[in-house]
Amino acid sequence: MPSFQTVRGMRDLLGEEALAFTGIIGKARETALLYGYKEVITPVVESFELLSAKSGEEIRQRMFIFKDLGERQVALRPEFTASIARLATTALKNEPKPLRLFSAGSVYRYDEPQKGRYREFYQSNFELMGSSRPEADAEIVLLTDSFMRSLCLRGYAFKIGHIGVVRGILSQENVDEKTQNAILQRMDKKEYNEAFKLAPTEHCRNMLEGLLQLKSDDCFETVEKIKAYVATDEIPKAAADNLGDILKLVVDGGCPIQVVEPAFARGLEYYTGMIFEIYIPELDIALGGGGRYDRLIELFGGEATPAVGCAHGIDRIALALQAQKNVLSTEGKKRVLVLAVNDLLKGEALKIAQALRLSGVGVEFEVMGRKMGKALEDADKRKVDYAVIVGERELKEGAVMLRNLAKREQTIVPIKELAKKFSF
Ligand code: HAM
Repeated sequence: MPSFQTVRGMRDLLGEEALAFTGIIGKARETALLYGYKEVITPVVESFELLSAKSGEEIRQRMFIFKDLGERQVALRPEFTASIARLATTALKNEPKPLRLFSAGSVYRYDEPQKGRYREFYQSNFELMGSSRPEADAEIVLLTDSFMRSLCLRGYAFKIGHIGVVRGILSQENVDEKTQNAILQRMDKKEYNEAFKLAPTEHCRNMLEGLLQLKSDDCFETVEKIKAYVATDEIPKAAADNLGDILKLVVDGGCPIQVVEPAFARGLEYYTGMIFEIYIPELDIALGGGGRYDRLIELFGGEATPAVGCAHGIDRIALALQAQKNVLSTEGKKRVLVLAVNDLLKGEALKIAQALRLSGVGVEFEVMGRKMGKALEDADKRKVDYAVIVGERELKEGAVMLRNLAKREQTIVPIKELAKKFSF
């Protein structure tokens, strides 16, 4: 047999890395609780038709697609939004609005593997459905800010814009949706020349090019410049006004928005309003992003439902924490080994281990049949904090030997008081 490796773009997550992932997802889950988002778990495999509707060419071309044994065209989810929009048109159709839904798990895109870009990666995802108001947009940005804060990430910055500005300019020039999407795809990749070449008229090209010049260091000033730039065009003007309203709420909510990007576009086609991404100085890839998508639920056959949401890249957040030498705190969680001095006391030792576990203490039990010295040596190497040694003499007194492996100190502790020793 050959020695098997993971498939290209897929990774095993071991030890500290696995711990970091579950720690980050744990913080996302805490954020969901703080903001009133209910967790839902949806399938990894969905119909290709659902996943590809309005996701955009970029993602459509990178999906893992296959026929199941029943000849159904299915795909591995490349994101959560389509699945959550499906829920809003089916099982949760009659739920009172707003709907606040949280999910976390693996997603799949056939991207070219490189640092921070994998074919299987993890997202935490938040969707807020039923409100078209700027408060809803602001909430999605603010919860992302709270999530980043809870991870103690330093120097992160939000980049925010409004897809309605560019789409508004294009639709006033009667540019069809397909061409609009092609232009936005290129703008997302900062291929501005290629993008602007697709604009049908000189005026349209100039309008788009001009947007790039409006950026200033002050985000409110940039919004004012956009408003003035599109003052005579109803649709982009409404988009710029809406962006200004959202921005004010976000700043009132305590999150300093760093950059307003007048010509901002994102890879996904379903966005209709505010869009944003989040960055740290140490990495040039986004840690998360999202925006408003008011027409997706309707497209899936549901009632017209405005919605806004975001997803955070867990793998990239783990890289960000690593770059900032930030280890998610596992303080207070001591590792404890329980072992018997001889085979006859195994049962008693197991009883003690179970009682500790029942009191919430995490315990590893010696299962290798090693002699005491070897077992302690191994525990020390694996950074176990304490060994509970069950011996005949102490047991007669209702006690055990508790050894602090790092300090190489040991004391006799009554079994009744043992759990208390680990509740820090
Ligand atoms: P997205 O920008 O495509 O948005 O992905 C969100 C985040 O997933 C990115 O910012 C990035 O951190 C991470 N990510 C994307 N591709 C990869 C990859 N190949 N490897 C590692 N991490 C990656 C969405 O997925 C939308 N569904 C967000 C949303 C929710 N919009 C509205 N609701």
